[in-house]
Amino acid sequence: MTATLIPSQQLLVPQLEICGGKKLEGEVRVSGAKNSALVLMAASLLTENSLRLRNMPALSDIGGMADILAALGVQIERGSDWVELQANHLSHISPPYELVNSLRASFFCIGPLLARLGVARVPLPGGCKIGARPVVEHVKGLKALGAQVTIEHGVVSAVVPGRGHRLTGGRIHLDCPSVGATETLMMAAALADGETVIENAAQEPEVIDLAGLIIAMGGRVRGAGTPTITIVGMEKLHGANYMVIPDRIEAGTLLLAGAITRSSLRVTPVIPEHLGAVISKLEECGCQLNNDGIGITIKADRINAVDLRTQPFPGFPTDLQAPFMSLLATAEGSSVITEAIFENRLQHVGDLQRMGADIRTQGNTAFVEGVAQLSGAPVTGSDLRAAAAMVLAGLAADGTTSVQGLQHLDRGYDNLEGKLNAAGASIKRTYA
Ligand code: EPU
Repeated sequence: MTATLIPSQQLLVPQLEICGGKKLEGEVRVSGAKNSALVLMAASLLTENSLRLRNMPALSDIGGMADILAALGVQIERGSDWVELQANHLSHISPPYELVNSLRASFFCIGPLLARLGVARVPLPGGCKIGARPVVEHVKGLKALGAQVTIEHGVVSAVVPGRGHRLTGGRIHLDCPSVGATETLMMAAALADGETVIENAAQEPEVIDLAGLIIAMGGRVRGAGTPTITIVGMEKLHGANYMVIPDRIEAGTLLLAGAITRSSLRVTPVIPEHLGAVISKLEECGCQLNNDGIGITIKADRINAVDLRTQPFPGFPTDLQAPFMSLLATAEGSSVITEAIFENRLQHVGDLQRMGADIRTQGNTAFVEGVAQLSGAPVTGSDLRAAAAMVLAGLAADGTTSVQGLQHLDRGYDNLEGKLNAAGASIKRTYA
């Protein structure tokens, strides 16, 4: 007898089927910031008391970080938009490779583990689709705080020698303003003996959010949001109840959804200072933006071409380069986009070309000639922000666009299709 094979849903590839050309209207809500939430969760390792984080986004990366912390012995309780973490019985000093490998942010654990226990072993997260992403600056800084660090067989092992196994404050000058290195070193310094000064620190809003949490836990941090951060180490930190900032990259993506569909859309809540460079570029494109103190309403009609170059904050964010390219693919005129943060973050160009975009690349620069109309096609988001760029392009294209690569999209966008559908888009999650 021949067996009939019925494919199960798990074997099928999820995709978004977008029926393009619909105007958006009304209001869309922004969730808590992924890149803040991930580092704030790691900061739970700094105290034996309970840390409650509110405004948590529902993302697969948050689940991944929870698994890593649970593997270290952190007790975790989760609600719809909150998480409570208690690290009073840490049972392991080394998160498992399988978990670390799927989530780069897991490397954050090294700073607080080392500060609290005097020892940590964290597998190297390795490169990823968008670039090599070294951790040299993190390691250099931990050594400056007195840790002995070795890297062998793909594992970073760090130990604080001497009685008490406590890190000692020091002066650290970062060669580049790495967000991850700044955050790792702030957490390490929060429980070190004495004062630490981090020079050439990252100024991203997520760094300020981490400083806010450390202060709420009884720590002392000055200068977060400027290139020089000073941290006075404490003997102990206590628990806290803390609210994650809104996701500036999700907010930017939603504003771009309004722009690419030539609609009027309110995006809320937004902290406008977190999006200064993006707001300026949208205005340069001809969009009208109105900030009412809680949200921003974008009105778009004609879109003019603009040039942009990604930079560390407060410059234009690399995480919105791909989504902005989708918009410029529909603009009137020629734009030049330069990716200056990651060495391999133009992989969405090929898929945008499949949709009729006119783009040439040379190294890390893309030359975009706006076209009158994109056309729906099957495409794949090669990383998180590339997947968002495909969704935006699909909203503007004629016909149907099917976007695969949702394992990336779901890492960083909390119910993107639901939010856009509520504003008038037509997006269905199907299994191909
Ligand atoms: N770099 C070094 N040496 C280091 C560390 C970094 O040369 O030791 C370089 C990197 O190779 C890269 C640049 O510095 O060229 C920026 O890297 P950074 O360390 O600032 O990035 P990250 O901390 O690894 C975070 C976000 C990214 C975001 C970047 C830049 C998290 C979890 N990730 O990464 O978010 O693109 O900052 O803003 O916070 C995303 O959300 O899609 C994402 C990739």
